[in-house]
Amino acid sequence: MAVTLICPDKDPNPWIRALNALDPALDIRVWPDDHPRDDIDLALTWAHPSGVLKEYPGLGCISSMGAGVDHLLSDPGLPEAVPVVRLVDDNLVRDMAEYLLLAVLCHFRQFDVYQADQSEKTWHPLDPINKQDCPVGIMGLGQLGRAAARRLSKEGFPVLGWKNSPGALPETETFHGDGQLADFLGRTRILICLLPLTPATRHILNLETFSKLHPGAYLINVGRGGHLREEDLMTALDRGILSGACLDVFETEPLGTDHPFWTHPRIRITPHVSSQTDVFSVAPQVLENIRRLRSGTPLLNLVDPKKGY
Ligand code: GLV
Repeated sequence: MAVTLICPDKDPNPWIRALNALDPALDIRVWPDDHPRDDIDLALTWAHPSGVLKEYPGLGCISSMGAGVDHLLSDPGLPEAVPVVRLVDDNLVRDMAEYLLLAVLCHFRQFDVYQADQSEKTWHPLDPINKQDCPVGIMGLGQLGRAAARRLSKEGFPVLGWKNSPGALPETETFHGDGQLADFLGRTRILICLLPLTPATRHILNLETFSKLHPGAYLINVGRGGHLREEDLMTALDRGILSGACLDVFETEPLGTDHPFWTHPRIRITPHVSSQTDVFSVAPQVLENIRRLRSGTPLLNLVDPKKGY
């Protein structure tokens, strides 16, 4: 059994240390170093160059290095017969819920306004907002979305959720499908996008969507940059349809230094850090999938390529 790491934008060494700490005999190779490719069983990937997985004829599993798999499924050169798995991890779930609580509270407690006031030495207390008047709407109720819903609801925010298919959840008023999207948006004051990026969800954060939100709503995008039509965000902010946005993901990462988002007074930017993989925490599930490949038992956290997650 041998593993290859294909992550040109990431340092592979922490992954090697974490995997070898659990299995010192594991044969790990790093793309694009010169190495035999025929005996590689599992590829662990992040932002791999399109088509490169075809260099490995014996792959039994392709694993994302994160929770998302859009970087894999959007590759036209992805070997079709090879199962794709993603990482599911309590730390990822906890960190995302924490980031979202922070982003929601910064907006709700009007920190953005006070920060702007501070730069002008302005003392201007605003009236507090009632949580009951500030429903948070979460698009995407997978593991991350459900955990965020629980956390926000525990803090006293009314939480609404929108997903593909019907299904009730505790502490969350759920809406589903295109038919209930407008009702969901109309009630939402803070919109969180945690959807997987698929052809159906690309550019779902557009002017039409924003116009259906409660006027002056706030946007938090922690899904993918491809969910947002960037020029529509600028228009929605200019017209007061949205009051501000907190963005962790972008169509092109890193965000170019000349991008208008950097200097927009009502956009808060973080560099794709809402929930970062802790290699030591996820290494056991990668090794477990290697063991499962060896024994021919079903893989953990298998992705359905048709659904896109
Ligand atoms: C991060 O964006 C991930 O998919 O884990």
